[in-house]
Amino acid sequence: MAFFFQLPLLLLLAAAHGAAPVLGLTRSDFPPAFVFGAATSAYQYEGAVAEDGRSPSVWDTFTQAGKMSDKSTGDVTADGYHKYKDDVKLMVDTNLEAYRFSISWSRLIPNGRGAVNPKGLEYYNNLINELVQHGIQVHVMLSHLDFPQVLDDEYAGWLSPKIVEDFTAFADVCFREFGDRVSYWTTIDEPNVSALGSYDNALFAPGRCSNPFGITNCTVGNSTVEPYIAAHNMILAHASATRLYREKYQAAQKGGVGINVYSSWSYPMTNSDVDVEAAKRYLDFVFGWILEPLVSGDYPDVMKKNVGSRLPSFTKSQSQVVKGAVDFIGINHYYSMYVNDRPLDKGTRDYSADMSLYQRASKTIPGSSKVIFSTMLVRETTSLNYF
Ligand SMILES: *[C@@H]1O[C@H](CO)[C@@H](O)[C@H](O)[C@H]1NC(C)=O
Ligand SMILES: *[C@@H]1O[C@H](CO)[C@@H](O)[C@H](O)[C@H]1NC(C)=O
Ligand SMILES: *[C@@H]1O[C@H](CO)[C@@H](O)[C@H](O)[C@H]1NC(C)=O
Repeated sequence: MAFFFQLPLLLLLAAAHGAAPVLGLTRSDFPPAFVFGAATSAYQYEGAVAEDGRSPSVWDTFTQAGKMSDKSTGDVTADGYHKYKDDVKLMVDTNLEAYRFSISWSRLIPNGRGAVNPKGLEYYNNLINELVQHGIQVHVMLSHLDFPQVLDDEYAGWLSPKIVEDFTAFADVCFREFGDRVSYWTTIDEPNVSALGSYDNALFAPGRCSNPFGITNCTVGNSTVEPYIAAHNMILAHASATRLYREKYQAAQKGGVGINVYSSWSYPMTNSDVDVEAAKRYLDFVFGWILEPLVSGDYPDVMKKNVGSRLPSFTKSQSQVVKGAVDFIGINHYYSMYVNDRPLDKGTRDYSADMSLYQRASKTIPGSSKVIFSTMLVRETTSLNYF
């Protein structure tokens, strides 16, 4: 099986297929414009990491250094680089209506900027053509956690504002080359997961953190500030790519650009005012961190208050570019949490501590002040099955 379905999706696909109705649902219970799809990410799917001119991404460096708990790498994975035609057949067999894949930046532009790799271009053109021929709606994710190692070496990737220009140039190549067949563009997958995984707890490449916040003792990083800087540059990069698309491509290509956020909803654990406030604060940190700037041009007030000077600020002109820079918002919903208030720590804080709350997945599980997903990911990343 080349891609990673989640169970509810499978049930719905079965329903879509016209098989015995699952949960009492059939395809016609959903509006025609509601599409059933699945998604993969380049590093988890393609393999062929050293073939045809691809350069290493930060994930190659990370996994090849043995940083996955089971020591797995993405060297082969689902071997989609060679088997994409078989996979499109599987998509047809399962009645998939849409498919989202991500583009490996280091396959398409091995130096991070500049020359386009003709073999990389050919691969994505072939894949897109195969999907189009089979009537599968194509959705593209520009950046799904992996970016060229050279850009990490040169300026520490998302920690530098320099990435905004390079990301926009990468997006430009994708819009120009593939935009005649692709209408749905998502810029950056779950920016907050990427910011926290890469720069707070070090679960993800490039694996930076500072004590006591990482799952390991990192030699470089600063968990208290870097996630905020990384997310800030992601928001700016997203907005810049969106503006480019709107100015240069949208009239002719008629597609749209969006971003997707990792989300979990929150419920107050009790009806007390402080818990109700905490549940709202949770949403401001979870959705608002990424979406509030894109809607209103600035971070949520409670983030500014709790994070203080560690939270970067938008200049007036950045704020104008960022505000309204989405044609659609993607929500990756996983679960909901119960939330209690927790006094703000006086000492060194990271994102979790800045949220100033306890969260729990069930009323009977003891609350944790840490972002719960870290513990889930420790388990789930063991075989690169989950980003
Ligand atoms: C990190 O280093 C500290 C002190 O050197 C040690 O006690 C701790 O076990 C280390 N943690 C990890 C996850 O390696
Ligand atoms: C992280 O950055 C903050 C703000 O610049 C600084 O006060 C703190 O000492 C840094 N921590 C580490 C571990 O470098
Ligand atoms: C960010 O990630 C945390 C887990 O680290 C999650 O609880 C939260 O829902 C996410 N928020 C956004 C906006 O993606």
